[in-house]
Amino acid sequence: KNISLDITKAEQFLKSGAVEAYEGQVKAAQEALENGTCPGNDFLGWLHLPSSITPTFLDEVEAVAKTIREKCDVVVVAGIGGSYLGARAVIEALGNSFAWLIEDKKNPTIMFAGNNIGEDYLSELTEYLKGKKFGVINISKSGTTTETALTFRLLKKQCEEQRGKNEAKDVIVAVTDAKKGAARTCADKEGYKSFIIPDNIGGRFSVLTPVGLLPIACAGFDIKALVKGAQDMEKATGKDVPFAENIAAKYAAVRNGLYSQAGKKIEIIVNFQPKLHFMSEWWKQLFGESEGKDGKGIFPAACDFTTDLHSMGQWIQEGERSIFETVISIEKPNKTLLFPHDDENLDGLNFLEGKRVDEVNKMAELGTRLAHVDGGVPNIRLSVPELNEYYIGQIIFFFEMACGISGNLLEVNPFNQPGVEAYKKNMFALLNKPGYEAESKAIQEKLK
Ligand code: PA5
Repeated sequence: KNISLDITKAEQFLKSGAVEAYEGQVKAAQEALENGTCPGNDFLGWLHLPSSITPTFLDEVEAVAKTIREKCDVVVVAGIGGSYLGARAVIEALGNSFAWLIEDKKNPTIMFAGNNIGEDYLSELTEYLKGKKFGVINISKSGTTTETALTFRLLKKQCEEQRGKNEAKDVIVAVTDAKKGAARTCADKEGYKSFIIPDNIGGRFSVLTPVGLLPIACAGFDIKALVKGAQDMEKATGKDVPFAENIAAKYAAVRNGLYSQAGKKIEIIVNFQPKLHFMSEWWKQLFGESEGKDGKGIFPAACDFTTDLHSMGQWIQEGERSIFETVISIEKPNKTLLFPHDDENLDGLNFLEGKRVDEVNKMAELGTRLAHVDGGVPNIRLSVPELNEYYIGQIIFFFEMACGISGNLLEVNPFNQPGVEAYKKNMFALLNKPGYEAESKAIQEKLK
């Protein structure tokens, strides 16, 4: 059984046959991805990545993870954007909701840093790590990203001070470029174990490389099942799969239809399981960075339901009709909990007594869907049998393939991110970075 897609409640907002009308364009987009004739064709390494991953490679990742798991109580994953969100999405989706509070000797606590420049955050992180047996996975493709480099400086020093340089060597791992960047130079000089991020895979498409696989394996999850899920989805969304059966093709088509024909400029990814919060963050980067350019692109937003129905629900139900929703629905929870009886029944909820909590959640989901569709919000539903490694692997590749197709339908280069440089340039100019003298002068003029 695979994850499945229901677009019926979105199609009804378009002219009849509008989704099927994309078939030719989708086919051309998939051919262009396959033949490398699309824009950004030097970043297509993700396209057949799942099927190219060998068991030997996964054994190697697992062996390094085993060493770290044996030697560390805490593992700090340092990375930002595409070098961070995939690992966090998978680890939080699969892990216990209170993982960081649980004294679980089987698995180290996984922490994420290198994704902000918060002085309090970093101070509190280093305070927390004092006296702890911690290791670091330093993830940066360029090896020069300020947020990650700053964090790595702090953590390397602290790890060496606490464990000694020799022992630190065994618990610091780099995931970076094969040849260039500070992370590579440092790893080679210090003799750290390292993994390579392939040149032809951009950050937001890199979760199935060691960028995601190593932290996920360190957290104790089954990376072989994750990759198997992605491999099966690679087959299920390939260019020769007929349009009607290809869920990535249909998703790409319907969202482009809603955007260009129905004025739906914002897509909200929605979950009814709080563990999926970071899956949405990963999705936001995947689609936002891939499509938001040349003055175009659906704005990717995210809500956790039912939580946000009590904050954003009003806007979604009755605000400007420029949105559509994509719900990731988990069919079967992993645990069982029944709605309890209460003798006094003050809240009047005894009629739910004995029902699975998930049954109530599912009715909230269905009720929300119907209400939002009635309120003019098209609804797409991705149905996932269970929250486990295999299906998360499917979800990852499904969205990657849909994004590759969708960016091509939108006629942008989905694999670059030139806009990310603008803030960096200004920040370095403001901080008087050597080499930025002209920019520093210009920006100071602007501020006068
Ligand atoms: O998708 C991207 O390219 C970005 O989000 C990068 O992954 C992010 O900026 C981190 O870059 P790097 O891995 O070079 O440190």
